[in-house]
Amino acid sequence: MEDRRVKEQDINIVEAIRRHPLFQQYYKRLEQAEKDRRFCCHQMNHLLDVARIAYIQNLEEGLRFPKKMIYAAAILHDIGKARQYEEGIPHEIASAEIAEEILKDISLGKHKEFSDKNIFSEEEQQEILGAIRSHRIYREDMNSFEKLLYISDKKSRQCFACSAEQECNWSLDKKNMEIDL
Ligand SMILES: [Fe+2]
Repeated sequence: MEDRRVKEQDINIVEAIRRHPLFQQYYKRLEQAEKDRRFCCHQMNHLLDVARIAYIQNLEEGLRFPKKMIYAAAILHDIGKARQYEEGIPHEIASAEIAEEILKDISLGKHKEFSDKNIFSEEEQQEILGAIRSHRIYREDMNSFEKLLYISDKKSRQCFACSAEQECNWSLDKKNMEIDL
């Protein structure tokens, strides 16, 4: 039978981030912390919704950000959420700290799972970290990558179909109360 397992050296950098021990450790903590949560959760469905919305917007608006940067920022942007639940650290700060460690580790090439051409430059790493730090509070002077992550994160929520919408403390102007095209 054909071996369908992906060869280690063929995995892309976003999958390498997902497999990184630090990502796995914090992701498990997050799953545990949100297991009974009625409000928005921050697990893989949400992370990939954000990635896909951002990538669609990237194409529609001709922003030309590399797909790997968009997906990396999206899957890392809430990775520190468990630290907010458990330690009260704002999750955009905790997520950026964890993301920085993972991106640095991967970009130093300590991991041999993927080829060098896939790693992030120092500039790309900083852009990803900036967008993670800024994804919670809108600022007029956001750069376009920060804005892309911020908007995609908000758009990903289906408040009109959420049973906890009435109790949710998001302001009404942030809630998505209809399908937005
Ligand atoms: Fe999010």
